[in-house]
Amino acid sequence: MSELAPSILSADFTHLGEQLHTLEKSGTKVLHIDVMDGAFVPSISFGMPVIRSIRKDCGMFFDVHLMIQEPVRYIREFVEAGADSITVHVEACSDIQKTIDEMKQYRIKVALSVNPATGVDAVLPYLDQIDMVLVMGVEPGFGGQKLIPQTLEKVKELDRLRKEKGLSYQIELDGGVNRENLTKIIEHGTDIAVAGTAVFRGNIRENVRDLQEVIAGA
Ligand code: DX5
Ligand code: ZN
Repeated sequence: MSELAPSILSADFTHLGEQLHTLEKSGTKVLHIDVMDGAFVPSISFGMPVIRSIRKDCGMFFDVHLMIQEPVRYIREFVEAGADSITVHVEACSDIQKTIDEMKQYRIKVALSVNPATGVDAVLPYLDQIDMVLVMGVEPGFGGQKLIPQTLEKVKELDRLRKEKGLSYQIELDGGVNRENLTKIIEHGTDIAVAGTAVFRGNIRENVRDLQEVIAGA
């Protein structure tokens, strides 16, 4: 069954601890953590201190999405801060293989991400080395955007490729996920659906329950 990964980018940071407890109590297993550097994307979010701090009191799987230039420079620090998986953007790496090799030094899941304008061919040479591909459903940088429907074709293509090649990488779709489009997202082959606004706007417990219901019914 597919998994919901709430993105803390949309959390209320004055109540972050409580909100994480609510997620955990609601059955959330994967927490999506968006790191932005103001260079690869226009916005800046947060970094290691926040991750290190929430790690102390949180048993969820930390799915760290690095929207930063040359992430190879910071892999060790994010591992030490508590990442369970790290996703880097192919567009942000001058040497993708070197970045994968660096990630493979640690006991983490290794993932590559593609922006809406980047084709699946950019990750093709690495599919047999990685644990996950993150397909951006919106331009990276901000929560609350609308899913670009064509990005689902890449999810479908990646699903087809893994069957064809006998590979087992997971497919994550990030951006614009809501109650209405989640079934379609899963039907295209998504294993992990990231949701920021759809989880944190309004009642978190109810939102998670509703989204998990959609997943269970898909
Ligand atoms: C966007 C981030 C997403 C974002 C999703 O750059 O990578 O994870 O938080 O937010 P929503 O679900 O609001 O589109
Ligand atoms: Zn993300």
